[in-house]
Amino acid sequence: MNFFSLIAPFYDCFMAALHKKQGKVLLARLAPLSHRKVLDLGGGTGKLANQLEKAGANVWLLDSSTAMLKRTRRLLPSNRAVLGDAASLPFAENSFDVVMIVDALHHFRKQEIVLEEALRVLRPGGTLAILDFNRKNAAVKVLSILEQVMLEPALMLTAEQLEKLLAQIGFIKIETEIISAYQYLSLSTKP
Ligand SMILES: C[S@@+](CC[C@H](N)C(=O)[O-])C[C@H]1O[C@@H](n2cnc3c(N)ncnc32)[C@H](O)[C@@H]1O
Repeated sequence: MNFFSLIAPFYDCFMAALHKKQGKVLLARLAPLSHRKVLDLGGGTGKLANQLEKAGANVWLLDSSTAMLKRTRRLLPSNRAVLGDAASLPFAENSFDVVMIVDALHHFRKQEIVLEEALRVLRPGGTLAILDFNRKNAAVKVLSILEQVMLEPALMLTAEQLEKLLAQIGFIKIETEIISAYQYLSLSTKP
């Protein structure tokens, strides 16, 4: 049993306040969302995907945990809640207006490959939104140790490390916004 199978039944409860804040930021920065095709990578139980759907987006969510997806399927049509690995996406190139990765990049063991896949499936001019924990923060360092104890990769990056990686992979117009003491939002564009 992996980490997310274990915590799936309680996940939405202990993330409720954070999801509310994160949703507000994403809705503001990604507007207008009406009729836009969004892919939520490592989207978990679908709480944020659901907020974007309510704003008019059509969201596909991909996650590697059956237990998390079981909950997602209450919020999204089942053909748009996909079991899979973010490092090998079952979608054609240039398919999405937005790819978002929230609190998930640091859980991906193959971060570079996932970001290359995000670039492939985005349409030219499409937006990659990454919201994650900032390695510079002391509390995030503690979180990273706790996650490693649970055998998670805990590959938190600093905003500068992520910007460098995105540029290497080919994203342009990379902008980072520090949204709290421990989290940042990175927005970048496929050329
Ligand atoms: C902390 S949760 C974040 C969920 C959601 N984005 C949110 O903000 O509530 C991280 C998610 O990443 C998923 N995940 C980890 N590795 C993955 C991979 N290689 N491919 C797809 N999903 C993955 C986990 O199953 C988990 O649901």
